[in-house]
Amino acid sequence: MTENIKEWADIVLEKIKEKMDWCSEKNRDKLPYTTGPDGTYDDRLDPNIHWQPDNGPNWWTNGFWGGIMWLLYQVTGEEKYKDIARVSEYRLEKTMEDFYGLHHDVGFMFQPTAVADYRLTGNDRSRKTALHAATLLAGRFNPGGNFIRAWNDLETDTRGWVIIDSMMNLSLLYWASEETKDPRFRNIAVLHADKVLENFIRPDGSVNHIVEFDPETGEVVKSHGGQGYGEGSSWTRGQGWAVYGFMISYIHTGKEAYLDAAKRVAHYCMANLDETGIIPIDFRQPEEPAEEDSCGACVIACGLLEVADHVPEAEQAMYRRAAMKILRAIEEKRSDWSRGCDAIVQGCSGSYHNTDHGITMTYADYYFIEACCKLEKTGIFMW
Ligand code: GLY
Repeated sequence: MTENIKEWADIVLEKIKEKMDWCSEKNRDKLPYTTGPDGTYDDRLDPNIHWQPDNGPNWWTNGFWGGIMWLLYQVTGEEKYKDIARVSEYRLEKTMEDFYGLHHDVGFMFQPTAVADYRLTGNDRSRKTALHAATLLAGRFNPGGNFIRAWNDLETDTRGWVIIDSMMNLSLLYWASEETKDPRFRNIAVLHADKVLENFIRPDGSVNHIVEFDPETGEVVKSHGGQGYGEGSSWTRGQGWAVYGFMISYIHTGKEAYLDAAKRVAHYCMANLDETGIIPIDFRQPEEPAEEDSCGACVIACGLLEVADHVPEAEQAMYRRAAMKILRAIEEKRSDWSRGCDAIVQGCSGSYHNTDHGITMTYADYYFIEACCKLEKTGIFMW
């Protein structure tokens, strides 16, 4: 890695430490998702806010605040980050009692909280929670179709739906097998990853967000645009979940086909990266309005950095250069280092057709900070 990149990461990590020092204490008892008009983080546990049924404590992003705390714990060695991370973790534990509210995203919830805690401190309480979560995720596997089902019963029939985001949740299954030496979790992860490998990636390297399968046979029914512009489009955060998700499966299994898949999607992303380094919500959205998603940008950057770390030296620079273009754009044009906003990364979007554009999201901050830690080679591989 060039001196230049290391120097950049040193400077940015100092700014992250400075911001998180006050921001962590200000929001220590919350499960934050986004900031309000006054720049303060919301709280998914706020009893005055009427969230949707699986949108409160069970909200899929509720692990990222704790995850940020574990990243900072490793970077600074300060105990306070461990304590704040555990506030999140122990609150998330309670969602186990509300089985109905849990979903395909338990990996996002428990990998950066309970699994991180157990791996970093040996906390046995965390191990139990994490194994419980892994068992719930494994229970969503449909052996008739060889896939892990997304979502629960909605108005639409989602029994055969699979989403690209699921690739990120597989870490929980890989961890459970590595921890217990029982291969069943990993076997499920591999069957699911193979199903996604076969059915999500298009010839140009872009990926679908949602593919619907026949829940009895596993035959493809159709694809859906999901959070992107439409059917056949390429939602950028989904492209990021694919690059990073296939890398996770490669790192845990060593199966070359997953590295190859991550590279194909990475090349599609790099081919669509323009000189600004700003990422749209969907690489196939119309030119106007110029909607963007800094969160997708941070996820793609993390994925590209992982690819760079796992290919021969001669290939590394290309992936790292693209990741740095994205990260520099975030830092220079889309970051708030002031006390006026609790979040760092600005300009995120929930999905193309919703109105939640130009917002902050804790998981954008999480992946931005994780990317900076990767550049510094600091801390454990979280996923
Ligand atoms: N996993 C849903 C999202 O990325 O918004």
